[in-house]
Amino acid sequence: MIEQKNSQPADSACGDAASTENNLLTTRQGHPVYDNQNLRTIGNRGPATLENYHFLEKLSHFDRERVPERVVHARGAGAHGVFESYGTVGSEPASTYTRAKVFQEKGKETLLFVRFSTVIHGGNSPETLRDPRGFAVKMYTEDGNWDLVGNNLKVFFICDALKFPDLVHAFKPDPMTNRQDGERIFDFISNTPEAMQMITFLFSPWGIPANYRQMQGSGVNTYKWVNADGKAVLVKYHWEPMQGIKNLTQEMAEEIQGKNFNHATQDLYDAIEKGEFPQWELFVQILSDDEHPELDFDPLDDTKLWPKEEFPWLPVGKMTLNRNPVNYFAEVEQVAFGTGVLVDGLDFSDDKMLQGRTFSYSDTQRYRVGTNYLQLPINSPRKKAVTNQRDGQMAYNQDLTAGLNTHVNYEPSTLGGVKEAPKTGKDYTPQYNAALVREKISRQNNFSQAGDTYRNFQDWEKQDLINNLVSTLVPTQQHIQDNMIALFTQCDADYGKRVSDGLMQFKAMKNSGNSESSHADEAVQQAIEESMEAKAY
Ligand code: HEM
Repeated sequence: MIEQKNSQPADSACGDAASTENNLLTTRQGHPVYDNQNLRTIGNRGPATLENYHFLEKLSHFDRERVPERVVHARGAGAHGVFESYGTVGSEPASTYTRAKVFQEKGKETLLFVRFSTVIHGGNSPETLRDPRGFAVKMYTEDGNWDLVGNNLKVFFICDALKFPDLVHAFKPDPMTNRQDGERIFDFISNTPEAMQMITFLFSPWGIPANYRQMQGSGVNTYKWVNADGKAVLVKYHWEPMQGIKNLTQEMAEEIQGKNFNHATQDLYDAIEKGEFPQWELFVQILSDDEHPELDFDPLDDTKLWPKEEFPWLPVGKMTLNRNPVNYFAEVEQVAFGTGVLVDGLDFSDDKMLQGRTFSYSDTQRYRVGTNYLQLPINSPRKKAVTNQRDGQMAYNQDLTAGLNTHVNYEPSTLGGVKEAPKTGKDYTPQYNAALVREKISRQNNFSQAGDTYRNFQDWEKQDLINNLVSTLVPTQQHIQDNMIALFTQCDADYGKRVSDGLMQFKAMKNSGNSESSHADEAVQQAIEESMEAKAY
């Protein structure tokens, strides 16, 4: 259905043979529209009459054109493509680790849809803003859909799903001023030491990728793979762009934003239109399915990297984006990804962030798109869905199968209803024996990887990081600055010192009478002082 150019469902009622008649404008009821320029009025100066059915329907549909935008990741761009499996995981057959069909055969192709996004600001916000970038992939596999809902950065701010709404509130605009505010951000972060590695990436040029084509992707959370014997391993996913990786400094981003605030959407669309199809290679890191007490971090903690040197990246396949959406709303806006959308052979890990996420996605999509969001062409699996779920708002079809008794919408039944599917391998049955608690992960170790990340940056990346942190921290209260300097110092002494020195320099400038006004304040003044007067008319 999705491959159809016009994105209409294949069984859409009317024939679609191109004919002159099909070019003629109709109402949604199929009535021809003879005049689309003029309201029906009493005399040509008005007033209008109430029985203007075409007008009323046109306006009332227009009045309802918007659905709630995503609570996060509202600004995005998408494309269709294909995943080609290597049939192997590094040098071993994929079946050693997973029975997921999508990975088994060399050269096997699976159609997919990708949506890239920024996180915090609204649906038409600039694509040059400092933010993680979403990297969500929906694969229409023969066993149903598999979604890998990731980001460009490989770690996250927090590792407990309970904290997500607070994190997002701190980064979203202030509820009174409706402006994003560094003081609110660093008030939260200074009380969230596990965020230090993510903050180090985010305020460096890695926080503004050049565009969507030249950025990495990562599943971030830990998942599991299960093979035919029911044996599981821990797994992390990484997408590596074959176009290379490019990031922007703050200064570069501001210049680009002054010319085009949709540059990343345009870049992706134009590349695909020109036939320069962007590609990413998919790698996995694999660890045995246990707690790994030998590591100084918990492998389920998504604020930490699994170091590449210790846990090699094993190639498993390649993704190519080769087709632009024809209807942004139907495809990019209404697409619904979720971390619970896994196929046989792929499983959840015990990562408590992942479990929180798995509740949140389909919950929000029932609200944002509607109860029957999975019936939309962009979301429905290519494999036919055969459920006993029925009705609800905007129910478009029933999951019926030819030959089955249509009176039976329950299971079990002896009257010809649907049957449970046969198992494809041994069940994976993890064992648990622990107290039910409300506690942090034991191995916190919040600073050593963040320090490594800082030390591994090139000089220009470090400089941009310090500049961005200092300019965001300048307007914040002293105790927030002090707490942040203490956290940066625990990551790396030089890191803390450079932020501290930067803040001192600003204060010295202020004391000597030189302006210490922020970029944002400057812009407000600039609009007043440099604007041109206009005559009232
Ligand atoms: C507990 C933590 C999290 C919660 C509760 C959460 C929740 C949400 C919600 C409610 C949405 C909107 C979905 C929609 O309207 O369709 C969303 C979108 C998204 N989230 Fe999360 N999220 C969490 C963490 C993460 C993490 C760690 C990542 C990265 C690995 C991530 C990646 C994304 C992406 C890429 C999207 C946009 C998907 C799209 O393009 O439609 N989220 N998240």
